[in-house]
Amino acid sequence: MTVEPQKPLPPYRIKVVEPIAFLSAEERRQALADAGYNPFNLRADQITIDLLSDSGTGATSDAQEAAAALGDESYAGARSWFRFHDEVHDLTGYPFILPVHQGRAGERVLFSSLLTPGQICLSNTHFDTTHANVELAGAEPRDLPCPEAADLDSSAPFKGNIDLPALEQTLAGTDGSRVGLVLMTISNNGLGAQPVSMANLQAASQLCRRYQVPFFLDAARFAENAWLVHQREPAYRDWTPRRIATQAFQYADGCVVSLKKDGLAAVGGFIGLRDERLHTACEANLIATEGFSTYGGLAGHDLERLAQGLREVTDPAYLRARAASTAHMAELINAAGVDTVQPPGIHALYLNAGRLLPHLPPSQFPGHSLGCQLYLDGGIRCAELGSLYLGAMDDTHRLVTPAPFELVRLAIPRRVYTDAHLQYVATVLAGIAKNPEQVSGYRIVSAPRLLRHFKVRLEPTATE
Ligand code: F0G
Repeated sequence: MTVEPQKPLPPYRIKVVEPIAFLSAEERRQALADAGYNPFNLRADQITIDLLSDSGTGATSDAQEAAAALGDESYAGARSWFRFHDEVHDLTGYPFILPVHQGRAGERVLFSSLLTPGQICLSNTHFDTTHANVELAGAEPRDLPCPEAADLDSSAPFKGNIDLPALEQTLAGTDGSRVGLVLMTISNNGLGAQPVSMANLQAASQLCRRYQVPFFLDAARFAENAWLVHQREPAYRDWTPRRIATQAFQYADGCVVSLKKDGLAAVGGFIGLRDERLHTACEANLIATEGFSTYGGLAGHDLERLAQGLREVTDPAYLRARAASTAHMAELINAAGVDTVQPPGIHALYLNAGRLLPHLPPSQFPGHSLGCQLYLDGGIRCAELGSLYLGAMDDTHRLVTPAPFELVRLAIPRRVYTDAHLQYVATVLAGIAKNPEQVSGYRIVSAPRLLRHFKVRLEPTATE
C-alpha cells in the first residue's frame, strides 16, 4: 500500500536545535515563587516547554536565513523593503502597505489615525493589546461574538464568527453613528482559536459597506484561518489556503497584521490600506514613531525573513501537519480527562480549568492555578484566559465580576516542538487530572491597572 507522505508528515526536517532546561521540582517551586507566581516573570531558561505564546516563537527555515543574509539595511528604499512589499501586496491585494515592528504598533498607528474619542470599535473579539489600543485612542471596544461561541463543547465549525444580527442592530441603532470601525480577528484568539467563515466575513463586510463603516481585519493568523475554512466550509474545499486568505483580505477595507505569528518570524507586522487619505495620515504617524515608511522599525534582514515566511506559511502541507498536530494533542488531553474548547483550532488549545477545578471559585483563579500547576509539575509555561485576565476587580484586587470562562491557553509555537514534546504536556496534565483537588488557588498581592495579567504578582491561598 502506498502512503502519501505529505498527508501525515510535516514538510521539513530539523537542522538547527536549541537546548531546553530541565529543572528539579524544588528549583521550579522556587522559580515560580520568585516570579510572584506569574509565569510572565519566569526566565526562559527555567522552562522546559514554553507554551506562553505562538508569537515570535516559531522556527525559521533555511530559506529564510539565506534570505536574511541578503538584507539591505539602507535607510530608505531598501531592496528588502520592495521584496517584502511585493509579497504582502501579492497576498492581500492592498495598494498601500506600511511596515511596523509588530502588530500592536500597527494598531496604535491605525487607531490613532482612524478612530476619534467617543467612537465605538466593534469586533468578533478584540485581542488584549487591540482592546487597549482602541481605549488609548479614546474609543470604546465592544465584542459581538456569535452565540455558538458560548458553548465551549459544541463542535460548531466557525465559533470565531461575529454575531451578524447584533452587528446589524448596533449599526442601525442609536449607537450606529458612533461606530468608527468594525474589526474582525482571524482566527479568533480571544475565543478559543476558533476560525471565522468566509460567509461571515462577506456578510459583515456587506453590512459595513451599507452603513459606511470601515471594515478591517486583525489578521495575525490569516493562514491558519484559511486552512480551517478550507477544511470546514464546503464552498472552499477546492481553494488553496493562499487563495482563501487573499479573498478574505479582499472583503476588507484594510488590515492590521502581526507577522510574529503567520509571518513565521520573530518580529514584524504591517498595515494594509485601500484609502489614500488614511494611508497618508498613518504614514506620517509611522515616520514619527516607528521609522521611515520603507522599514517601519524593522531591519532589512527581518523584512527578508518575513517575505520568505509569507511564501512558506500558506503551504498546504505545512498547515495540514500543524493542524493535525494540534488536533492530536487535543485528543491526548481530552483522553486524560481534561476538556478543551471544541473543536480544536490550530495555534493553541484552551483548557477548561473551571470544569477541571470545581473546588476553586473564580476569585481564586482556577485557570491561573492550573497554569501554575503545569509549571510546578512539568516545567510547562502557559497563559490564563479567565478571571485574572478578564474579570472586573475593585481597587483592592477583589474580583467583582468573573470572566465567563476559566480557561488556560496552551499556545503552540510554529515548527518548534515535536509530537513527543506535546505528548509530554498531555502526560503532565493527566497527572494533574488524577488529583485535581490538590491544585491550590491564588490571590493577588499587587497588580497594575492596565493589562493586569502581564505584571500581576500573586501568592497561593493554601501552602502545599
Ligand atoms: N492581534 C492578535 C489577534 C494577536 O493575537 C496579537 C498578539 C496581536 C494582535 C498583537 O500583535 O504581539 O505582534 O504586537 N498575540 C500574541 C499572543 C501576543 O500571544 O496571542 P503583536
